[in-house]
This record gives sequence, structure tokens and C-alpha cells, in this order.
Amino acid sequence: EKGGYEHFMIKEIHEQPQAIFDSLRGRLDPESLNITLSGLDKIKDKLINARRVIIVACGTSWHAGLLAEYWIEELCRLNVEVEYASEFRYRNPIITSDDVIIAISQSGETADTLVALENAKAQGATIFGIVNVVGSSIARISDAGIYTHAGPEIGVASTKAFSAQLTVLLLFAIKLAEFKNSTSEEIRKQLTKELSTVPEKVKYILDSTIENIKVIAKKYQGATDFLFLGRGYNFPIALEGALKLKEISYIHAEGYPAAEMKHGPIALVDETLPVVFVATKDRVHEKIVSNMQEIKARSGKLISVVTEDDQLAISLSDEHIKIPASHEMIAPILAVIPLQILSYYVGIERQIDVDRPRNLAKSVTVE
Ligand code: M6R
Repeated sequence: EKGGYEHFMIKEIHEQPQAIFDSLRGRLDPESLNITLSGLDKIKDKLINARRVIIVACGTSWHAGLLAEYWIEELCRLNVEVEYASEFRYRNPIITSDDVIIAISQSGETADTLVALENAKAQGATIFGIVNVVGSSIARISDAGIYTHAGPEIGVASTKAFSAQLTVLLLFAIKLAEFKNSTSEEIRKQLTKELSTVPEKVKYILDSTIENIKVIAKKYQGATDFLFLGRGYNFPIALEGALKLKEISYIHAEGYPAAEMKHGPIALVDETLPVVFVATKDRVHEKIVSNMQEIKARSGKLISVVTEDDQLAISLSDEHIKIPASHEMIAPILAVIPLQILSYYVGIERQIDVDRPRNLAKSVTVE
């Protein structure tokens, strides 16, 4: 059942090229670069006229939502808010029939997300579900949606479901930008083209980084804390890297926007603290490189995920993991893969039951 792998988690990490491919199949035509999303067509007018989009989710799915906020705002020029379902449902939020709620859930059964949607629906909002489990409660309550085609995810840590969510959310943003005419056709086509190459790039990352990451995992598995830093599109990936490490290794980890560390967390930095930078080349790259210099000046240990030709970032780092160059909006989908692998091997080094870490359930059906 684990197909020759030792754990479901590592099997599912390896299934990501397929999960992403399956989530694109029939939706992105690699020849014409046209995108077809029947779920989106169904609420096209609602979306075009929406006052705002509110994304509701928990955990890793919330991180996918945070990245979707950046994408949708950039490409669709539409207001997006991202909410933890548990906060949203108890806060008496202001919701109108001009709001579209995007629910993101692997299981489709997360109690807080489900109840948040029921409340929003009762107030007239339209619900758009991005769900992995067909026919689940969240899928059923949605007015329309797009399934992620990740296949069953057994490991408690979400890996392939996350990359499939990102794939579908980026398809959504590009298609909505087409409807709203908010991004040039040239940029949309460029993104679509690059998105179609993500499965092979993820495969390349799996083939080329694992041995190096195993060595890094061994070296840092004794650390008591980790910091994960990113900016822009890579900030949600820093959060996801930290969550993954906490779940699977029981090491305390925090994800932070790299520039925000000056406002507190930099006090933690000394020669015992590994700091993982998600630092692929993008519009804020120069800024994150100066954040790397700040950590280095305080003797923190720099582990960075970098674009493969980035000599400057590589020279600053104690350890580096190279990923292929890509459009800055696509890079986060690639950058998360090494972080999943890192948490898996740190967990293995620490002899944790990575598929069933303590205190966690695969789907949280109680609040
Ligand atoms: O099934 P869902 O996507 O609604 O689950 C949400 C979270 O419980 C889930 O992502 C959780 O954070 C994972 N264990 C993360 O790896």
C-alpha cells in the first residue's frame, strides 16, 4: 500500500508531480494554453461582480489560501481576505450577497471550516469549494467548486494536497483575470505555460535535492528551534515549512515574514539557531538577501532554498538547496517541496512516527 516507500508521507511527497498533473488535466490545455474551469463558469457573474473574496480554511489549507490572496489580488485586482475558519465563525463577520467565499479543505470535513461556510451561506454569500475528497460535506455545501485531484492523502501532514490546492488556486486566479480582463493576455499565457511545466520541475527537485537534504536533516536534527523566513509569494511557504517541521519533528519552529523579524524574533538568533530562508529570485529578492546578511551577522545558521544560479544567496548560506528558475508566482509551488522533504528527514532522524504524529488527527471533525 505504501508502494515500496517507508511511509505514506514520503510516498505522497513523491506523488506530487502526478497530483499536480492530474489537477491540471482537462483544465489547462498545454497546446492552446486555454484554461477551462466549469466550476468557475457556474458562478462567473458573481465572481466578476464580487465586492471581495473571503478565503476560509485551517492549517496547511489556510497557507494555500494566503498565497492565493497574493495571486488573486495581483492578477484579478480584487480584494481578498484570508480567514482562519475558527476565528471567522465566532466573530460575527460582515458578509453580504456580494461576497464570494472560497473554502479550501483537503478532507472536506473540517468542522470549523464547515460551520463557517454554513453561517456565511445563511447570510447570502456564494460558496466556492476547493476540496480533495469527492462528495465530502464541504463539497456538498458549495455552490460551485474545483476538486483537487491529489488522490487519497493518508499521512497526517498535508503534502500533495497542498501542492494540488496551489495548482488549482493559480488556475482559478488566471482564469478569473481573463474574465475580468485585469491581466494582459501575454502574462496570463506566460503563467499558464509555466504552470504546465510544474509537474516536471517538481520531479526534477525530487530527483536532485533529496540526498543533500538528508545530510542537512542529520546535521540540524538536534536543534531546539527553527525559524523560517520568506517575503512576498514565499511568505506563506515559510509558514508552511514551519508548520510541517513542528508536526513531523516536534521541533519548535516559527514562520515569519523576513522583514518582520527585526520587530522581535531577531532576538532569538545565535549560532545554535537554524534559519531557513525561502529566497528564490523575485521582485523582493534583494530585500531578502539583506535579511540573510542580518542573520549571518548574528551567527545564525543559514539554510536557504534558492534559484539554481543565485551565487550571491548561495555564498551567504551555510546550506543551500537549489531549485529551477521560474516565474516568481510559480516559484512558491516549487519551493515548498524541499521544505516538506526536510521536515520528513528531520522527523526520521528523530524517530518520530511521521505518518501519525502525536496529538494530531488527519481530519479535525471536532472544533
Ligand atoms: O482537511 P483540511 O484541509 O480542511 O485540513 C486542515 C488542517 O487540519 C490540515 O491542513 C492540517 O493543518 C495538516 N495536518 C497540516 O499538515
